[in-house]
Amino acid sequence: MLKKKRLDEISWEDYTNLTQEEQAPYLVQANGRPYHVLIAQQFERESLDALCDLATRIRKIAKSKDGMRFLSDLLAHKRAMLYFHQPSSRTFLSFYAACQILGIALAEVRDPSISSEQKGESLEDSVRTFSSYFDMIIMRTPFQGFVDKMAWILSNTERPLPIINAGSGKDQHPTQALLDIYTLQRSFEKSGGLENKHIVFCGDLKRGRTVRSLSRLLTFYPNIKQTFAAPDSLQIGEDILQYLRNANVEYNVTNDFKGTIPEADAIYMTRIQDEWDTSPGESKKIDLTDYSFTGADLERLPRKSIIMHPLPRRNEIDTACDNDPRAMYWRQMRNGMWIRCALIATIFGRDVAINNYYTLNLK
Ligand code: CP
Repeated sequence: MLKKKRLDEISWEDYTNLTQEEQAPYLVQANGRPYHVLIAQQFERESLDALCDLATRIRKIAKSKDGMRFLSDLLAHKRAMLYFHQPSSRTFLSFYAACQILGIALAEVRDPSISSEQKGESLEDSVRTFSSYFDMIIMRTPFQGFVDKMAWILSNTERPLPIINAGSGKDQHPTQALLDIYTLQRSFEKSGGLENKHIVFCGDLKRGRTVRSLSRLLTFYPNIKQTFAAPDSLQIGEDILQYLRNANVEYNVTNDFKGTIPEADAIYMTRIQDEWDTSPGESKKIDLTDYSFTGADLERLPRKSIIMHPLPRRNEIDTACDNDPRAMYWRQMRNGMWIRCALIATIFGRDVAINNYYTLNLK
């Protein structure tokens, strides 16, 4: 368990000079539960297992009217702000639904043109304003490091509150990684668990923040092999490969996506992240013909393997695959709602009440 360090006892400059692994202890509570959720590295195998178990229990409790009543009373005294500076469907809505399930009242700013940012207010002042009215801020931002800055700023005020990173810059999307781990666990429940599996990532691995977060979390599971299949210009960053080497994880970097399909336990497709292009049409020049999953590829995918995608997709997975039982991307996004419920309940210490309710009523 990470031993808590205090964000109000370190200067912003010293904090930013730490590696993300060194920052992790500053993001947890004294009891080991997460407080701010900013990076994948703040989770450990034990906390991942606890979150996945809790998500499953919430999912089962929510099947009955009494269960829904119980859940919706757990955090009825809390309010959350959803501040999304970039487009989102799944992350926004699954957080929204998760808060509703737990009884949390919600407000949102998705369009800065109707906030006082239009009058020249800084992003920092905007978020500090939200902190006056709410108990938690869930934030998506194109600016790498901004969620960290806000977590540090708010931890140094009289009214600290948890910040959840719902996608920041090209770097991290930690709660997507949590739902991906939950999806992998559920998918391999009857085939030996997540250990010893071969995960193939394909697409824009250079700018896809979901892969960067998930790749790190997978290092907690023994004997997982990770393959990165992408054109050279979109290949995974050296920082992730170094991370895997440090963790003694076997990996493979290749241009031959189609060759990996018969050996994969999970194929994780991603779209081109052309919103990060530095010149107009830059991504269109990249030949992606060999980096899509087609109906014909289903024939070569092992029977127990799965296809994942953080979504939204363009054409990197043929719609002909959508109703195949191995297409896990629809279930994956619903898993996002359950794991986000589990995460929020844990941040506010209501995991104990949920586990007790489950033991008394459903075990
Ligand atoms: N996976 C994901 O982050 O989807 P949205 O952009 O729709 O939130």
